[in-house]
Amino acid sequence: MNRFSEIPAMRECCRDWRRQGLSIALVPTMGFFHEGHLSLMRRAKSLADRVVVSLFVNPIQFGPTEDLASYPRDLERDSNLAAAVGVDALFTPTAETMYSDGFQTRVVLGSLGQGLCGASRPGHFDGVATVVAKLFHIVAPDVAVFGEKDFQQLAVIRRLVTDLDFNLRIVGQPIIREADGLAMSSRNTYLTTEERQAAPCLYRALTLAKTIAQQNTRPTVAAIERAVRDQIEKNAGFVVEYATVVDRASLAPAAKVGENCLLALAVRVNGRVRLIDNTLLFG
Ligand code: PAJ
Repeated sequence: MNRFSEIPAMRECCRDWRRQGLSIALVPTMGFFHEGHLSLMRRAKSLADRVVVSLFVNPIQFGPTEDLASYPRDLERDSNLAAAVGVDALFTPTAETMYSDGFQTRVVLGSLGQGLCGASRPGHFDGVATVVAKLFHIVAPDVAVFGEKDFQQLAVIRRLVTDLDFNLRIVGQPIIREADGLAMSSRNTYLTTEERQAAPCLYRALTLAKTIAQQNTRPTVAAIERAVRDQIEKNAGFVVEYATVVDRASLAPAAKVGENCLLALAVRVNGRVRLIDNTLLFG
């Protein structure tokens, strides 16, 4: 596996592959790999001749009070894991490389970036869309793989590709979970032992939402959202930021429960750790 930290070298490597007629898949990440990341890389391998993984903790997608400084990092471990999966190139630029002196151009999202996670993280999806657009320009992949765990991010990226005419395919990959149902996340390392023990309540609440939705009693959206909230807030320190039934494509709040509905969830644990998860109600 090759490792690049400079943009021209990464770009040249991809150009070389294209000249040889090889297709390229890109997996953007912020590192501290878990099985969720690795599943994206394996999927990418099945979709193209060469796989590029970017590992960059993108400062412009973090708010001023968020966890940029404490975000977990372990480049050597990540590098070994990516190599073992068969990744061809790991792109690890510095913040100075990606945002050189005088940087001032951003991709700005409309309403898709403002609801749900965007409401409590202003500017977050602009930061994501900007860095992903830069990565698309540097690598020029045929396909890029993103996780469905970050369902709003996936919707934003699909919109970005359509709106700015990127010539590539976006593939979504299902959520990978721990044995007890907790969605894997680099941020799970922030949880204390007690918090970690209680954290599967998110998955239990999503499962409950599906059960209620699929009953013959035609439940309302409000009834499902209330049941999810109650199930989670039974746990000390767990506060629901949002539990919302949305249309899976537009992410607009759903008026009634139906086939295209997704239950999206964000929870704060003791005001310190923010967990997100989601499920299709009829998936
Ligand atoms: P990061 O949180 O490192 O996630 C990288 C990719 O892994 C994303 O597409 C995310 O949805 C996916 N992922 C994370 N946990 C997953 C899980 N449990 N199952 C399946 N996929 C999972 O998302 C980002 O980085 C950044 O915002 C990024 C897109 C790299 C832009 O900076």
